[in-house]
Amino acid sequence: MNVVLMGPPGAGKGTQAKRIARKLDIPHISTGDMLREAVAAGTDLGLKVKEIMDEGLLVPDDLMIDLVRERLAREDTRNGFILDGFPRTVEQAIALDRMLDELNKEIDVALLVDADEQEVVKRISSRRVCPECGKVYNLLTIKPEVEGHCDRDGSRLIQRDDDRPDTVRARYRVYSEKTEPVIRYYSGEKGKLVKVDGSGEIDTVTAEIVNHLENAKHG
Ligand code: AP5
Repeated sequence: MNVVLMGPPGAGKGTQAKRIARKLDIPHISTGDMLREAVAAGTDLGLKVKEIMDEGLLVPDDLMIDLVRERLAREDTRNGFILDGFPRTVEQAIALDRMLDELNKEIDVALLVDADEQEVVKRISSRRVCPECGKVYNLLTIKPEVEGHCDRDGSRLIQRDDDRPDTVRARYRVYSEKTEPVIRYYSGEKGKLVKVDGSGEIDTVTAEIVNHLENAKHG
């Protein structure tokens, strides 16, 4: 099953994508994680995108399209994938359709995990991440066993550079301007859009997504 996952910053895309990917045994491809890894490793791509990400803006389409094209060509995507955070512009959505067409594939479901601005600001301000393994915590909902440290490797948890309140507001604005048209792209004649209320408990949201994916698979 080939799924794209959309939603405002902090709606829970990454949290849900990891669970669904495990359940369906397909790779979770997060463009945000790929870019953060490039920044941390100091690659050419990382040097190009660091400032853009810190300002909450979008990385140029051509860079993103090349990154995703390369990733989707890998063998582990043969039974499906969950693309988390791509496409974010209509240009990216069109490019994705083209690259999948070349691979004789298509998107089965475009999943929108929605939540209002107040909820996402609350979630993002309490998010903490492990700089070593990338595990995501939340000071309100997913607390580490030892305060301030990762359960897996004991590293000191940090706040993402783009989780400062002014950057979060910029990210939300960019989402409304550039990514909401992508929702219309999938909901129009393509009829691929499935909307899930992301404001509930994590398990409830997962159950709703699984339900929709089962229906899409058999319908
Ligand atoms: P990206 O990493 O994709 O950021 P985002 O879309 O803003 O999403 P987040 O990672 O902030 O949130 P999420 O929805 O995954 O929420 P999470 O599950 O962590 O992109 C970062 C940047 O990279 C962009 O700004 C851009 O610069 C660049 N970029 C990436 N892709 C690009 C593209 N295609 N084109 C151009 N530029 C691109 O949850 C948030 C918190 O809430 C966590 O603490 C979690 O534990 C908690 N939580 C989750 N679900 C629940 C729940 N149901 N109840 C309570 N708490 C919850």
